[in-house]
Amino acid sequence: MSRKILVTSALPYANGSIHLGHLVEYIQTDIWARFQKMRGHDCRYVCADDTHGTPIMLRAEKEGITPEQLIDRTWHEHKRDFDGFHVEFDNYYSTNTPETRHYADTIYNRLKEAGLIEVRTIEQFYDPVKEMFLPDRFIKGECPKCHAKDQYGDNCEACGAAYQPTDLIEPYSAVSGAKPVRKQSDHHFFKLSDPRCADFLKHWTADPAHVQAEAANKLDEWLQAGLSDWDISRDAPYFGFEIPGDDGKPTGKYYYVWLDAPIGYMGSFQNYCDKHGLDFDEYWKPDSTAEVYHFIGKDILYFHALFWPAELHHAGFRTPTGVFCHGFLTVNGLKMSKSRGTFITAESYLNHLNPEWLRYYYAAKLNGSMEDIDLNLEDFTARVNSDLVGKYVNIASRCAGFISKRFGGKLGEIDRAATAEYETAFQAGAIANAYEERDFGRALREIMRLADVANQYIAEKKPWEMAKQEGRETELHEVCSTAMTLFRDLTLYLKPVLPKLAEQVEAFLNIPPLAWSDNWAALPTGHVINDYQHLMTRIDPKKIETMVEENKQSLAPAPEAAPVRHAEHQQNEAKAEVAASEEKSAWESFIGIDDFTKIDLRIARIANAEHVEGADKLLKLTLDLGQETRTVFAGIKAAYAPETLVGRLTVMVANLTPRKMKFGLSEGMVLAASDERGGPFLLAPDSGAQPGMRIK
Ligand code: MSP
Ligand code: ZN
Repeated sequence: MSRKILVTSALPYANGSIHLGHLVEYIQTDIWARFQKMRGHDCRYVCADDTHGTPIMLRAEKEGITPEQLIDRTWHEHKRDFDGFHVEFDNYYSTNTPETRHYADTIYNRLKEAGLIEVRTIEQFYDPVKEMFLPDRFIKGECPKCHAKDQYGDNCEACGAAYQPTDLIEPYSAVSGAKPVRKQSDHHFFKLSDPRCADFLKHWTADPAHVQAEAANKLDEWLQAGLSDWDISRDAPYFGFEIPGDDGKPTGKYYYVWLDAPIGYMGSFQNYCDKHGLDFDEYWKPDSTAEVYHFIGKDILYFHALFWPAELHHAGFRTPTGVFCHGFLTVNGLKMSKSRGTFITAESYLNHLNPEWLRYYYAAKLNGSMEDIDLNLEDFTARVNSDLVGKYVNIASRCAGFISKRFGGKLGEIDRAATAEYETAFQAGAIANAYEERDFGRALREIMRLADVANQYIAEKKPWEMAKQEGRETELHEVCSTAMTLFRDLTLYLKPVLPKLAEQVEAFLNIPPLAWSDNWAALPTGHVINDYQHLMTRIDPKKIETMVEENKQSLAPAPEAAPVRHAEHQQNEAKAEVAASEEKSAWESFIGIDDFTKIDLRIARIANAEHVEGADKLLKLTLDLGQETRTVFAGIKAAYAPETLVGRLTVMVANLTPRKMKFGLSEGMVLAASDERGGPFLLAPDSGAQPGMRIK
């Protein structure tokens, strides 16, 4: 029976590039959606850019463009990257659209009618210069624990302590540098603490169809701890949808980005329905028989498995059939890192490597669990070269030429003994079940086992020897035709993972697009195939090296991959704001000359520079100030080899309070320039300057 299925991937933020971490999700969802379509199910895959929030607003401002211009540009970049990896959405939309606004208002109003929205006055940090309330990630200050300077409002990157922004010593706004003041404002809350929500969610999350067992455990912990009401509004200035007032008057309050983001799934689908004459309600009404699945990363489980079903349920919509949660990508066993060159953008990957190699590798690693998955670059090369090229493509490349050259492209009889053996090896339904359960690794192991059977057959028959011997034409014809039939069958199973390669094979074999129900149809005798064209090359490890190098150089070394917070209480704020946490307005606010002269800037000679065990970004510098030497840890490792620095003159801040770091005491700071165009570039004085000279 044909199923009606709606599938989504999480909506990527519209202020960053797609990277290989994101692609774990989009490739995974795409494989699953393609599989469902191949099976003949009515499956639609929609997604969109997540466009609202403070980071996007500030980023646009910094670039001197409107948020609309920024999100439009990003949309095209994201779409280009997804197309490049053959991620085939049925609709790729945006949350900044009338459809999403409509459903945001509908859900908000219905929750309000249900008595689940409450307006409360809260006190928050406010930037008096920029005239805006500051999200945690935009407040910086001294860590209350270790006294490291310039730490974020929610946790300290030097000692790892977590705290409230109000705990910071000498807090300042990361937007303007101003000292924030505390200010009251009305906020709208979704009353998750209402027993109706807790009761509903306890039932909902306990159903193993809805979430994986590992996820259920996590959710249970959260539910046991009790849900707090969720602040779903933000004050102007904000880029988002304004919350409608009772009388239609503007409220000056905006939906928090995480309120309208999942609603973007509905917005995108409504837009799709309008274009294709589908009935939206048939999918979203409470008793709908359609299936709705969300693929997400583990960092956003809280939103999708608690907030989202509670919102939907109490607003009179159906809830998801399943939330499929996956782990995070590591590269060579470590978190993606800009300094190591393993924070690889989709764009840069596509400049050097074949997208289907990555699709294959991710599929081989995915098993439907929430474990992190590792892209080990050596294993990637070995796996793709041996499985895809060595086992699969090889079947065609060793046999197809004979069909063209010796038999005019016409296929002969099939060796039924061989196909019978292959059929015995085939476990009916095993591959389909593995795909259905998102255990793509198991599906590929099954497929490669069958490829082994096919290769063994060819190895035993040795068509290349038959071709040299007289009177073995018929045998040769049969062996090669059989190999083509087995190749066709393997292609069918690999098609969800390798859609473009499958298309090339369909063209080469001169057959219509393969559907799942086509398995086991032998290619008929007399069928004419086309000349074999090279299907796939091996991975050249040099190209991987080049790509990694490029990612080391082309990206500003400042932050590591956006930190992912799993601490529950920080889920709301941190996640949305992390992406643009480094953003500042173009210029700092004015200071008087007195403030400036407080900074003791000196010429320093770099007497020694060395690597620091375990530090990604830091070099340990010994600085000669004439009268004394200082040790400074500088985040310039990505840009400078230590030996090239020794002997150079540079500029240091000599009266910075020494700061205890994980690796030792840092007694000052060297100055360097950087922004998204590159850096850091160390400053150097004109010739004649001597160590210890004051800069004023
Ligand atoms: N905008 C929100 C999602 C809103 S959904 C209604 C968001 N965006 S994101 O760009 O940060 O992430 C998009 C998806 O990619 C998320 O599911 C996230 O978990 C996933 N990934 C982002 N980085 C990842 C890795 N390094 N590894 C695996 N998945 C990752 O969250
Ligand atoms: Zn600290």
